[in-house]
Amino acid sequence: FYLYWFFRICILMALWAVAHLNSPGYGLRALRRTTGGRRGSAGLTGQDANGVPLRRSKRGWMWNQFFLLEEYTGTDLQYVGKLHSDSDRGDGSVRYVLSGEGAGTLFKIDEKSGDIHATKRLDREEKAYYILHAKAVNRFTNEALEGESEFIIKIHDINDNEPRFTKDPYMAQVPEMSDIGTSVIQVTATDADDATYGNSARVVYSILEGQPYFSVDPDTGLIKTALPDMDREVKENYQVVIQAKDMAGQMGGLSGTTTVSITLSDVNDNPPRFTKSLYEFRVPESTELGATAGLVPAEDADIGENAEMDYRIVWSDSPGTFDIITNRSTQEGVIVLRKPLDFESKRQYSFRIQVENVHINPRFFTNGPFRDEATVKIIVEDVDEPPVFRRAAYVMEVIEDVPRNTAIGSISATDPDGKETLIRYSIDRRTDMDRVFNIHAGNGSVFNVRELDREENTWHNITVIATEFNNPRQMSRVPVYIRVLDVNDNAPTLATNYETFVCENAKANQRIQTVSATDPDDPIGGHRFFFSLAQEAAGKANFSVRDNKDNTAWILTRRNSYNSLQRSVYHVPVVITDGDTPMQSSTNTLTIKVCTCDREGKMKLCNAEALTARAGLSTGALVAILLCVIILLMIVVLFAALRRQKKKEPLIISKEDVRDNVVSYNDEGGGEEDTQAFDIGTLRNPEAIEENKQRRDIVPETFYPPVRRPVLPPTRDNNGDVRDFINQRLQDNDSDPTAPPYDSLATYAYEGNGSVAESLSSLESVTTEGDQDYNYLSEWGPRFKKLADMYGGDDSDRDS
Ligand SMILES: *[C@@H]1O[C@H](CO)[C@@H](O)[C@H](O)[C@H]1NC(C)=O
Ligand SMILES: *[C@@H]1O[C@H](CO)[C@@H](O)[C@H](O)[C@H]1NC(C)=O
Ligand SMILES: *[C@@H]1O[C@H](CO)[C@@H](O)[C@H](O)[C@H]1NC(C)=O
Ligand SMILES: *[C@@H]1O[C@H](CO)[C@@H](O)[C@H](O)[C@H]1NC(C)=O
Repeated sequence: FYLYWFFRICILMALWAVAHLNSPGYGLRALRRTTGGRRGSAGLTGQDANGVPLRRSKRGWMWNQFFLLEEYTGTDLQYVGKLHSDSDRGDGSVRYVLSGEGAGTLFKIDEKSGDIHATKRLDREEKAYYILHAKAVNRFTNEALEGESEFIIKIHDINDNEPRFTKDPYMAQVPEMSDIGTSVIQVTATDADDATYGNSARVVYSILEGQPYFSVDPDTGLIKTALPDMDREVKENYQVVIQAKDMAGQMGGLSGTTTVSITLSDVNDNPPRFTKSLYEFRVPESTELGATAGLVPAEDADIGENAEMDYRIVWSDSPGTFDIITNRSTQEGVIVLRKPLDFESKRQYSFRIQVENVHINPRFFTNGPFRDEATVKIIVEDVDEPPVFRRAAYVMEVIEDVPRNTAIGSISATDPDGKETLIRYSIDRRTDMDRVFNIHAGNGSVFNVRELDREENTWHNITVIATEFNNPRQMSRVPVYIRVLDVNDNAPTLATNYETFVCENAKANQRIQTVSATDPDDPIGGHRFFFSLAQEAAGKANFSVRDNKDNTAWILTRRNSYNSLQRSVYHVPVVITDGDTPMQSSTNTLTIKVCTCDREGKMKLCNAEALTARAGLSTGALVAILLCVIILLMIVVLFAALRRQKKKEPLIISKEDVRDNVVSYNDEGGGEEDTQAFDIGTLRNPEAIEENKQRRDIVPETFYPPVRRPVLPPTRDNNGDVRDFINQRLQDNDSDPTAPPYDSLATYAYEGNGSVAESLSSLESVTTEGDQDYNYLSEWGPRFKKLADMYGGDDSDRDS
């Protein structure tokens, strides 16, 4: 038992020792074995508490770091170090194997000797260390002689990087007039070299350009002002060049530069100043209120809000006439007119103005007065102004019954320019279309050209124009309100056309109507009407009028019963008087019908109907009879007209008529020149021709041949009178039913027949040659032929 515990403690101690000895040591460059592998563990072979044989636990390599300089520039390979195993007895049976980062490429190992070489130039800034693994194996059996273990190749830094600034260029601002040593900006440069090793990364700043205005802190890179009272108004921008150098600024260090652009920002160190001590402006007197009278610029060397200015008037010979405000976009003083100018009353104004900054910086009060003053002089210029009316508007009153050309009122205007200008007055005719008024062009008196009627137009609102006599373009207008005042010139009348009736069974003193009145006049106290019965009817009156004294009156019966048979309508004259002066009155007739009523007094039948009903003939019957008569009459007239139409025949009266009538047949015209007779339109519209033809060519169905009485022409034998012959013919024509209804001319030429001397007429001579030859009527022969056909007349009939 004791033995067991003894061994156990021994093993634990041994394990602890191994663990501690395995941690890496420092300052050694070679690989070393601290314990012999097999040999060291051989003595520890034994059994554990359960009798299991204890195994030798493997101990690894004891490592250190290899160090290697970066940027090796030698010709042969750079030697890194050597691996060695204790089991290597130099007989070449041990083979060293390298693996891990860069093994075989960057780092090569001699299999036999264990020498490690770097094959390339290495850059620490690229990779600062490499982790590799090493093994030792038996060359023949490939049996691992040593366990694999890790080692590090660390690259040593050299100063191969210059400092770099984080920005190029830098921008910075510092207020002008800053105290010396005011911080402006901090610049920073970084160095890629190893800051933990040597001075390769230790940077020192210095200023190359920008002195003596600025300085830089060598260690921190903080730029500060180096001069007091730097003035932005003198120089605003500075270019400062800063250098950073490593190796703590020593010789051989690397360096980098940057530019810092420094702008002085504005402070309000300058007061505003007027450009002049006296400003003079000429302003026309017609300048409107609120208009600009002049601009007064003040200057300020500062910018932005440090140049913002306020202006004010500190003294004025006419306070309140002018005002000064600031144009915020230009910072100019704007002189504004606040009261109207009048050249005739004041020709010059002067006042003093003051300017100062809005944002005053008390630090610079010592730079001189912080406000400035100037004088402004305003000269008022004369302007030819239009006439000015004494009043802005005129109201005139005129009573309506004034005669024509009465002066209603007077208007007056003057020229404000003070000169003795003549003024012409006129009425704007657009406002007095009916030309009711006139104005005296010289003195402005307004007259009525027409009579006025208040009941038609109460107001006449006109415009009067005043122009300067010498300069008609100077013109002003004024409204004139003319009010027509009432005169009692209208008599009152009944308000409406009353339809009044009285019952036959009415009792005395019964009200049958309430009447009221109207009057177009407009008396001041309102209307007051008086009603009464006309004097002439008062004696034997059948009705009475009672004035209710409230502008109404009652119509009352005066006796007990009325008989419509006896009298169906009463006319009651009612006199209505108004209470005005001159008093106006009228007599109005109220028509009262007598009606039969029921017991309640409701109208049943009124006189007019009753009358006709009793006579046995109603209005309806009368109307019917009248209608019958009218219809009959119409039928008769119609019949007569139709008869006449049927018998109507064309009548050829003269040569012209023949042509006219014949041309209407359309088949032949009067030649192309015959525009009167020929409707060219029908030619252009052949259908219309057809239509016309059909319509016009119809031969009357019934034909009344002209009644021809045997007339004995006047011959030597019968000694007849030509007058008788013509009378006879006239009579024939008058009684001819085919004669046209209008006045017409008939030719009663008679050539005669049976003459012993034979006829001289060509008409007569051709009769024997047959119907076809009518060529002697060279112009209208064929038409005549047609005509003759139509009449059915024979050759001997041609003279008709
Ligand atoms: C200020 O001046 C500018 C430039 O002259 C002008 O356009 C602007 O209307 C002015 N503003 C006022 C308020 O007068
Ligand atoms: C203006 O002249 C007219 C005509 O001479 C005269 O009737 C009228 O009274 C005058 N008016 C005035 C105001 O003098
Ligand atoms: C005329 O002017 C009066 C007073 O201003 C007004 O009451 C009236 O309505 C006006 N009449 C017309 C027709 O413009
Ligand atoms: C009143 O009536 C009577 C009888 O109907 C008639 O004779 C008389 O003329 C009437 N009076 C008037 C004023 O109509």
